[in-house]
Amino acid sequence: MSDLDSLQSQILTAVAAAADEAALDAVRVAALGKKGSLSAELATLGKLPPEERKSRGAAINQVKDAVTAALSERREVLAAAALDARLARETLDVTLPLREAPTDAGRIHPLSQVMDELTAIFADMGFAIAEGPDIETDDYNFTRLNFPEGHPAREMHDTFFFNPKEDGSRLLLRTHTSPVQVRTMLTQKPPIRVICPGRTYRKDSDQTHTPMFHQVEGLVIDKGSHLGHLKWILAEFCKAFFEVDNVNMRFRPSFFPFTEPSLEVDIQCRRARDEIRFGEGEDWLEILGCGMVHPNVLRACDLDPDVYQGFAWGMGIDRIAMLKYGMPDLRQLFEGDARWLTHYGFKPLDIPTLAGGLSS
Ligand code: DAH
Repeated sequence: MSDLDSLQSQILTAVAAAADEAALDAVRVAALGKKGSLSAELATLGKLPPEERKSRGAAINQVKDAVTAALSERREVLAAAALDARLARETLDVTLPLREAPTDAGRIHPLSQVMDELTAIFADMGFAIAEGPDIETDDYNFTRLNFPEGHPAREMHDTFFFNPKEDGSRLLLRTHTSPVQVRTMLTQKPPIRVICPGRTYRKDSDQTHTPMFHQVEGLVIDKGSHLGHLKWILAEFCKAFFEVDNVNMRFRPSFFPFTEPSLEVDIQCRRARDEIRFGEGEDWLEILGCGMVHPNVLRACDLDPDVYQGFAWGMGIDRIAMLKYGMPDLRQLFEGDARWLTHYGFKPLDIPTLAGGLSS
């Protein structure tokens, strides 16, 4: 066997033995690279006499062709094997159960859900949202709402006061959402149609009272507003909120310093063990206070009561949320118990809309 034959068979053996593309490339470099064994043979040609050079050159090139062909054939085999291995490794088992998405694990608090429901209903009737701070002035919380200084109605509210300032004035935690009415009338021109949902505070704590609770205030101010409009709005709201075709409402005379006349509204219901039905039954549930805005309040908010009238209402959000979703204990709404929230909470993507359904 000539030296070239044995070189060729040595290289071809190495090609056949290369287990992967990297090893094959190393074989290629060892044979055909600058310092490779075949390149070294070609380099010897220059020293040969011309008659030998031609046949030797042709013989070396034959070996080179054979090696190149073997390399490319082996490369194809190895590449196909590598692809097969990768496809096998990367198969997906589509029968595996899905991992729970974060949106399935989290819950929206029922109060947040109810606030979104209220917002959707009133927005549909053309109301905007107005907001005010939890820390209020005595002036906005009481005085401009026609609570005279020293009037017993101020005490009814069991207010959390801050320490008095040097001038004697005291800030307080708002006892109702009605000061947002004042802020709205002072900054917006009628016609006004707003609702003001938010936190309110009173020194009160028992089974049906918590020191912090939620109200939603409604305010309409225009030139021809009257109690008929108020009744219609409240009836439409109750039907939409409790998701029933019919609600019977009862308006009782009441007293609030900031409205005249003042009314309290009850809705008719029937309580059956753990269920409550509206629009039928013998029970009446008080759900809100309302009335025509007192002329003194309009004046205190720079509106002329001979030109503008309006009505307002205030409703406890916690209470209507408990009624609608059958939550028996007010205090649990604020305990932050994850088990309670998992039971009564809503999926984050269950966004209430009138078109899509409020609670479905
Ligand atoms: N602010 C009252 C309360 O906290 C509720 C209320 C009653 C608000 C009558 C009103 C209203 O706007 O007109 O008890």
